[in-house]
Amino acid sequence: LAPVTTSDLRKKKRDGQPIAMVTAYDFPSAKLVEEAGADMILVGDSLGMVVLGYDSTIPVTMDDMLHHTKAVTRAVKRAFVVSDMPFLSYHGTVEEAVKNAGRLLQEGLAKAVKMEGGRELAPIVTRCVQAGIPVMGHIGLTPQAVHQLGGYKVQGRDLAQARRLLEDAMALEEAGVFTLVLECVPQEVAAVIADKLEIPVIGIGAGPSCDGQVLVLHDLVGYGSSDWKPKFAKRYADTGIVIREAVAAYVSEVKDRRFPAPEHVFHAAEETVKQLYG
Ligand code: KIV
Ligand code: NA
Repeated sequence: LAPVTTSDLRKKKRDGQPIAMVTAYDFPSAKLVEEAGADMILVGDSLGMVVLGYDSTIPVTMDDMLHHTKAVTRAVKRAFVVSDMPFLSYHGTVEEAVKNAGRLLQEGLAKAVKMEGGRELAPIVTRCVQAGIPVMGHIGLTPQAVHQLGGYKVQGRDLAQARRLLEDAMALEEAGVFTLVLECVPQEVAAVIADKLEIPVIGIGAGPSCDGQVLVLHDLVGYGSSDWKPKFAKRYADTGIVIREAVAAYVSEVKDRRFPAPEHVFHAAEETVKQLYG
């Protein structure tokens, strides 16, 4: 199968074919996600929370993103890989932002970058696009701004907020983003935005009218802490239980001396062993 391109994604929107995007953070998870048929893979800075154990995405660095993006792109042949720009990596000068975005393509081998924010990002988006770096926008609940937003909550419920979201979406499209993530937005508002934009709108907690959906892999497969489950995340499997039971069986077999069994061991010649004993 040929690699997914930005024009394939635009065509999917025109043809009314939903786009499926999932996060991945390392080689084996990226392989599985691609084999499962995802069109797009996001190396999300959510890795800070689901892989590195931070309680927000704020501590994630460019080095973290590069490290994980490289692992993912080594595994992927067909899916379109987008890498998140981490906190503060695109808030200095435009030159600095373009340089950081470029590293995710040049060193990480991602096909595009994603940045959180509205119309204020337009100059940076334009410069990245001029440099040949496709940019995915991300508005609504933008987790890097969690302290500004006062928590992880739905955005765009009232008319003023909803209008602001629509204007941000249109400004980003105008600036050149090739896709836009809408996170935690009322489905009716997301529907209007998806309808007004030509570029694909990928939702997470934004309802079924978006042109595509994205979920965090660990939420989808039930891997990791089970106490926090966002309303918008559907758990399709409980991998955590499978892994815990497998490891528990191993631990108990080690303690019972049932593992390793004869089929897991190597042998030396009898003579060698005799001489070794002396
Ligand atoms: O980091 C991430 O996983 C994301 C998605 C939730 C859109 O930004
Ligand atoms: Na993110």
